[in-house]
Amino acid sequence: MLDKDDIAGLERRKRAALINCLPGFKPVVLVGTADTKHATNLSIINSCFHVGAAPALLGMIIRPAPAGTERHTLDNILATGQYTINAVSESMTQRAHHTSARFDRGQSEFDACGLSERWLDGHAAPFVTDSPLQIGLTLQEHQPLAINGTHLIIGSVESIQFASEAWRADGTIDLALLGIVTGVGLDGYHLVGDGHRYAYAKPDTRPELI
Ligand SMILES: Cc1cc2nc3c(=O)[nH]c(=O)nc-3n(C[C@H](O)[C@H](O)[C@H](O)COP(=O)(O)O)c2cc1C
Repeated sequence: MLDKDDIAGLERRKRAALINCLPGFKPVVLVGTADTKHATNLSIINSCFHVGAAPALLGMIIRPAPAGTERHTLDNILATGQYTINAVSESMTQRAHHTSARFDRGQSEFDACGLSERWLDGHAAPFVTDSPLQIGLTLQEHQPLAINGTHLIIGSVESIQFASEAWRADGTIDLALLGIVTGVGLDGYHLVGDGHRYAYAKPDTRPELI
């Protein structure tokens, strides 16, 4: 067991690696943005989460931006009010991971990492052509969190693009069929199996496999 003092005593990078693994398997997605002059930016994040379905809202957490640091994704979202979230497939993992490097503001990660842009009329941010699930969002809420200076970003879903054969009749998407990976910490990318799906749970019966 590790107690609070053991954790606080760990070397900084080792502590970060440990704590980043605690939430378990997480989504890994690429956030596409552009500045007001259309210069594009792409950044991998693993903090995307569901906020609500009606209206359709997704959230994410962006690291603190103290004076002296550059947060291109955050700056672009605040400047244009729009961004895209693009799932990562197995063939994209190395290029997607590369986007986490500290590129200069003038250098687009699309070019540097070998990913191509797709633009949709009326949306101010680029999608990742190679991604099997592409989501366009408009910023709805931005909250710098008092606890540690991270930024909570909540956006409304404006468009969703994926192959129709992955859309099940009940509305769910077969993410495994699309080849989408899941992430662990800041360096692990895993393919998932078929898994198990269960019917809506009721108190008095064991949920049925579907
Ligand atoms: C697997 C992985 C997950 C990451 N998740 C996040 C995240 O949720 N939020 C964040 O702010 N940075 C996250 N990062 C770090 C960003 O990718 C990195 O800071 C990037 O350089 C930001 O680029 P930008 O300044 O162009 O926005 C993650 C990095 C990796 C490798």
